Amino acid sequence: MGVAAVVPAAGSGLRLGAGMPKALVRVAGVAMVARAVDGLLASGVVDDVVVVAPPEHLDAMAEVTTAGRVVPGGPDRVASVALGLAEVRDANVVLVHDAARCLCPASVVASVVAAVRAGHGAVVPAIPVADTVRRVDADGHVVDLVDRTGLLAVQTPQGFDAEVLRRAHAAAGELRATDDAGLVEAIGGEVVTVPGDPRAFKITSALDLAMAEALVRTELE
Ligand code: CTP
Ligand code: MG
Repeated sequence: MGVAAVVPAAGSGLRLGAGMPKALVRVAGVAMVARAVDGLLASGVVDDVVVVAPPEHLDAMAEVTTAGRVVPGGPDRVASVALGLAEVRDANVVLVHDAARCLCPASVVASVVAAVRAGHGAVVPAIPVADTVRRVDADGHVVDLVDRTGLLAVQTPQGFDAEVLRRAHAAAGELRATDDAGLVEAIGGEVVTVPGDPRAFKITSALDLAMAEALVRTELE
């Protein structure tokens, strides 16, 4: 029984504004979805990858990746992951990894899988929050200063015991969590963290894309 990865790549990338699905946008010449899939496979611990693509871009997505399967996604991330998960068979560990976090190092993938194998039902990579964080009211007035101690920013790939993730998605209903660990928490499951990596940042805006390009070029030098 192996490790399968679901790669949600069905978003439209509105905030990046490239005029095409974000996962197809190239970072230093290679589409984000291809980089994300190759990064998972380069870890050596992932046996099977399912990419979840915008329904109208299935062929384009299949052309650029080496993933085993490309399946159509849904209207939001939770729906897309559920559709990918439905295609996973014969795996007792499932990773969910955003195509938009396409520069995640293989070492993070390996440590997430190792933690699931060690018996944790849900594992997320996370890094300390660098900024000072404040809660504000609707008018933008500061309500309180959030103590940064104990605050971590959560990344992907997130790793799960396959049954835990299936139960969490089956129970999700209308709950629209921004990640899969959130769905596990909602059914009372325990989520543990392993050290993430700044390079696993999510490409959301044009600035993020520029940073990703710079990072790839630096690593090639
Ligand atoms: N995603 C998905 N299906 C959706 C929406 C998002 O598979 N219906 C995926 C995206 O492709 C991305 C990941 O979830 O890899 C994280 O989402 P986000 O960064 O918000 O990407 P987009 O939704 O594409 O971007 P935006 O919100 O700017 O439109
Ligand atoms: Mg989005």
